[in-house]
Amino acid sequence: MLSPLAPYAQRRAHLAALLGQDGIAIIPTAPERQRNRDSDFLYRHDSYFYYLTGFTEPSAVLIVTSDGRATVFCQPKDLEREIWDGIRLGPDAAPAALAVDAAYSIAELDTQVPKLLENKANVWYPFATHQGLEGQIESWLTKVRARVRYGALCPEVQRDLCGVLDEMRLVKDEQEQATMRRAAQISAGAHIRAMQRCARMLRAGEDVREYHLDAELLHEFRQHGSQYPAYGSIVAAGANACVLHYRADAAPIREGELVLIDAGCELDGYASDITRTFPANGCFTGPQRALYDLVHASQEAAIAATFAGARFTDPHEATVAVLAQGLLDVGLLDANLVGNAQDVIDKRAYFQFYMHRTGHWLGMDVHDCGGYNEPSEVGNATERRDPLSNELIQSRPSRILRAGMVLTIEPGLYVRPAPGVPEKFHNIGIRIEDDAIVTATGCELISRGVPVAAGEIEAVMRG
Ligand code: GLY
Ligand code: MN
Ligand code: MN
Repeated sequence: MLSPLAPYAQRRAHLAALLGQDGIAIIPTAPERQRNRDSDFLYRHDSYFYYLTGFTEPSAVLIVTSDGRATVFCQPKDLEREIWDGIRLGPDAAPAALAVDAAYSIAELDTQVPKLLENKANVWYPFATHQGLEGQIESWLTKVRARVRYGALCPEVQRDLCGVLDEMRLVKDEQEQATMRRAAQISAGAHIRAMQRCARMLRAGEDVREYHLDAELLHEFRQHGSQYPAYGSIVAAGANACVLHYRADAAPIREGELVLIDAGCELDGYASDITRTFPANGCFTGPQRALYDLVHASQEAAIAATFAGARFTDPHEATVAVLAQGLLDVGLLDANLVGNAQDVIDKRAYFQFYMHRTGHWLGMDVHDCGGYNEPSEVGNATERRDPLSNELIQSRPSRILRAGMVLTIEPGLYVRPAPGVPEKFHNIGIRIEDDAIVTATGCELISRGVPVAAGEIEAVMRG
C-alpha cells in the first residue's frame, strides 16, 4: 500500500525536475490573519504549500531544490504556546512525518535559507502571492552576495513558480479526485437538507429565514467531517437571487418564491461548489418552471459538450446557444427587436439575463488555479470588438480539456425588472451548478447526489 505521504513526495519530485539546473523553489504557507483585536480568522493553509506537503500548520516554509531535496521550516516545539494554541509538529518530528529530507525551526529561516540559495542559479517562488516575500528573498540574496568574494555563486534568475504549480494542479490525481467526490457528496446532502427544512418550516407556518437554511448547510458539512465551507454560502430568497455575490442573510423566505443556494464544503483541502434553485414551498409556479427548465436544458447541453479534447469554452457556448433560443421562446427577448438566436449570440443580447461564464476550474481553491488558454497555442491571438462595450478584446484559443481536469458547469438566468421584461418573470434568479471531472468520453458529475430536474426537486421537498 502507498504511504499517505507518497503523493506529496511525488509532487515534490515532479516539481524538482521542472526547476532546471541548480534551481531552488521557496513556498511559504499562508499567514495567520487578524479578524479583530486578539481574534484571528479561522486559519487556512496556502494551497500550493499544502499540495506539496499535506501540512496544515501556520508559519511554515517549504524549500525544494532541483536535486530533489526537500526542507521544511516549521514552528518549534514550545510547551507554553502549545498549551494555548495546540500541538505543533516541530522540526525534530517533521522529516519523518512529512517525508522531507531536513527540517528547521521557522526562527532559523534567515540563517538557513541564504545557505540553501548559495551556488544556485534560479530562484523560484510564487510571484505576487505572499505579501513581503519578495523583500525577504531580496534580503536572503543580499546575504549570499556578501559571500561572493569567498567564491560563492549568487542566483541570477528569479522565476514565478505559480505557472509551474498551476499546471500540475490543473489535472487532479486519483487521490484528489476521491477527496473531491466525497466533498461533493457531503455538499449534495447539505443542499437536500436545506431544501427539506425550507418546505417543512413553510408547511408548519413558521417564519423561515435565509440563515435557517445556512445553518442546515453548516450542520451537514461539519457532521460529515468537512472543515469549513469552501466559500461564503449564498442563500438567496426571491429577488436576492439576482445579486450574484449575495450571502446568506436574514431575509424571510416566502411561499411562491424561489430560493437559490450556492454552497459547498471544503474537505481535506478540496472544494466543492454546488448551486440549486428550488421553490420555497416545494412547487414551482408556471413562469418559474419555464425558466428553470430552460436553465436545466442549457446545463445539459453544456454537460454534453464537456469531454477530453473539447475546449474549455465549449460548454459555455453550448449553454448560450440554448439560452439564446429559449429567451426568445419564453418572451424575455423580442425577436422583432433582437433578431434570431444567432443574432442574440452575436450581439450578446442574452447578457441582460446571463452575465457570467458557465464554469471555472475547481480544486483546492473554489476558483482553482490553471490557465484558461491552451499553452501550445498562446501565440495564436486574435482581436475582436465586444458588441456591447465596443472594447477591443484579445483572445487566444481556449484550453483543451484533459481527463482529470475538474470544472463547474453553472448556467443561470437572472431577471431584474426592466422595460419590456414580462412581469411574471420579474425577480426570478436561477442558477444550477454541478462539479464535473473530465473523462476521456465525457464527464463524471460528482455533485448529482442532489437532484436537478424540477420534478425530482419537488419530490425531494415533499419528503
Ligand atoms: N460559488 C462561487 C461560484 O460559483 O463560482
Ligand atoms: Mn462556481
Ligand atoms: Mn458556486
